[in-house]
Amino acid sequence: MMSAFTPGHPALLPLRFAGLDLPNRLAVAPMTRVSAAPDGTPTPEMADYYTEFAEGGFGLVITEGTYTDTVYSQGYRNQPGIVSDAHVAAWREITGRVHAAGGRILLQLMHAGALSQGNAYRDETAGPSAVPPRGEMMPEYGGSGRWPIPREMSTADIETAIAGFTGSAVRAREAGFDGVEVHAANGYLLDQFLTDYTNRRADSYGGDVANRVRLTAEVVAGIRAELGPGFCVGVRLSQGKVNDFTHRWAGGARDAEIIFSALADAGATYLHIASEGRDWIETARLDGDVTITALAREVTGLPVVANGGMHDLAQAARVLADGHADMLSVARGALANPDLPRRLARGLTLDRFDHAMLEPMATLGNARRWLRAARAMS
Ligand SMILES: Cc1cc2nc3c(=O)[nH]c(=O)nc-3n(C[C@H](O)[C@H](O)[C@H](O)COP(=O)(O)O)c2cc1C
Repeated sequence: MMSAFTPGHPALLPLRFAGLDLPNRLAVAPMTRVSAAPDGTPTPEMADYYTEFAEGGFGLVITEGTYTDTVYSQGYRNQPGIVSDAHVAAWREITGRVHAAGGRILLQLMHAGALSQGNAYRDETAGPSAVPPRGEMMPEYGGSGRWPIPREMSTADIETAIAGFTGSAVRAREAGFDGVEVHAANGYLLDQFLTDYTNRRADSYGGDVANRVRLTAEVVAGIRAELGPGFCVGVRLSQGKVNDFTHRWAGGARDAEIIFSALADAGATYLHIASEGRDWIETARLDGDVTITALAREVTGLPVVANGGMHDLAQAARVLADGHADMLSVARGALANPDLPRRLARGLTLDRFDHAMLEPMATLGNARRWLRAARAMS
């Protein structure tokens, strides 16, 4: 991961993005850290964690996936929520600190659906259809063994989920966020609806891809209707999933165009294409030479964030210079280098990400212990 200084790196150019004036094109990608209080209230330790990225020069921070209702949305124990006044007050501390450090911050709104492995509000899980999820629960977020089979969501359950996203976006604005990102990627609820093998519904939310993207579009439209035209409502999408890295949209570019257009029509401000644990280029190529991020830009005219291995600064430069995306988001590289933009500007090499910092769980406490041990060794 050591990268040579690239003078005039395009990621360092300022950008007006989603109504925000950003000093550079580097965003911290959303990362679950399972470090909130048991009732989902963000902690002072989380405030320090998010502030460090803003101090390190990241123009934009996107928070970890945050649960949106007191029914089925929570995915892990110690995941933060945005469903109570206490949550809003604690997030307000965090947004205030990030703003004071010169950063902007978006809240990622997440409903885990069938991929919930810890929910204080319900023992069972719910998803589009009663299909057993692939793979096993993730130990780094406190799970083990097979996922339970979800209960098929009724129309009333779907309405509750949409209301959860909408109400959470309203609370996010109260908490001082610069906008929200709707998590429709990586295998969680909205992606379960989008995915052919997890969505076997016979109603208007199932069937062809135009129907399967309907729920995400309704979530975006619901937030837009509630918060007006100026509020930033991004959407994160991915082909791969935390429990199925190699999944690809069956219709390739044709599916992608339908999905992107539906979300743009619903009022999305930007699209963020995730590459779950993979390099952007491994997941970006669709039919022929077109990349998923370039296609998203072309089809919608919206700004697009590319993700996946952008700590490789040569790849990062290519993605921007060749017009594949407007912004880049960095996850593992940001954990290893919370000051990545400052390092890039000063020509310093980047530290290599070590997965041990997230073991045995991806908590902030474990990362702190890892860092202390690493410093003691050097
Ligand atoms: C510890 C950890 C937690 C993550 N949690 C989330 C999350 O809450 N929401 C999300 O959309 N992606 C999440 N991701 C995926 C990252 O945002 C990103 O897509 C992935 O790590 C690839 O980017 P990278 O190569 O820069 O690491 C997580 C990744 C890591 C390493």
